[in-house]
Amino acid sequence: MFKGLFQKPVYSMPSKVKMDTSGLDMSNIPEHIAIIMDGNGRWAKEQGKVRTFGHKAGAETLKKIVKAADALGIKAITAYAFSTENWKRPVTEVHFIMELLSRYLTSEIQEFKENNVQVRFMGSREGLPAIVNEKMDHAIEETKNDTGIILNLAINYGGQAEILHAVRSIARQVADGTLKIEDIDVPVFENNLYSKGLPSPDLMIRTGGDLRVSNFLLWQIAYAEIWTTSVYWPDFTPDMLIEAIKIYQKRERRFGGLVQK
Ligand code: FPP
Repeated sequence: MFKGLFQKPVYSMPSKVKMDTSGLDMSNIPEHIAIIMDGNGRWAKEQGKVRTFGHKAGAETLKKIVKAADALGIKAITAYAFSTENWKRPVTEVHFIMELLSRYLTSEIQEFKENNVQVRFMGSREGLPAIVNEKMDHAIEETKNDTGIILNLAINYGGQAEILHAVRSIARQVADGTLKIEDIDVPVFENNLYSKGLPSPDLMIRTGGDLRVSNFLLWQIAYAEIWTTSVYWPDFTPDMLIEAIKIYQKRERRFGGLVQK
């Protein structure tokens, strides 16, 4: 159905990322960055193309940004690839994104391994096409020993659904006697989230100009710094990532406390 769009073998990680790191404090790089990759559809429309063209370009941008993030010493990127609400989109667009994911996970795996990228996922596996689930399992298995940057893809993900999933899991443990109610605390709760084992994001980036959280990482962004840009995701560059980090470095992170003077 989407043959034309997938003809060229464009899925290779760019070998070198051009970026200007002058003025960046390399001793204060965020460990974990969350990204809402918004604006693919509008980007495509502006060029007189179908929305799906924007998603394909967006997948390319993600590759570039992961590479740049790795070079900057960022430890993890969590990218919002498909939300629990995205099923409301026209069926052709949903199919396209699923096919894109499936192809991406096949074509990129070698590059991920060569670049020491560990691939993880967050979200519900239920309702995803079997082939996508298989490719996800394969990507996890193939990259599980990679020690470089973690690329955590949020697929069929919603923050509210994730919290409900954690609550159900905790309730089950209480019901079967393996957990006491008084032992439920923040670390226990976080161990029951899809993001188990990952530190909370220090910085959340949203492209596309909207100023909302869109059900992304509702628990985990409690103290994340937020940076937004009106630039559409396919036009987002490594230099813009650096710009976001520079702004992050100027912020005073107090985590509810006071800054020591
Ligand atoms: C937002 O743009 C993007 C999405 C809903 C998800 C698609 C994301 C990608 C294709 C990038 C990552 C892909 C892979 C394969 C990992 P939008 O459609 O909401 O844009 P709009 O706000 O302009 O309509």
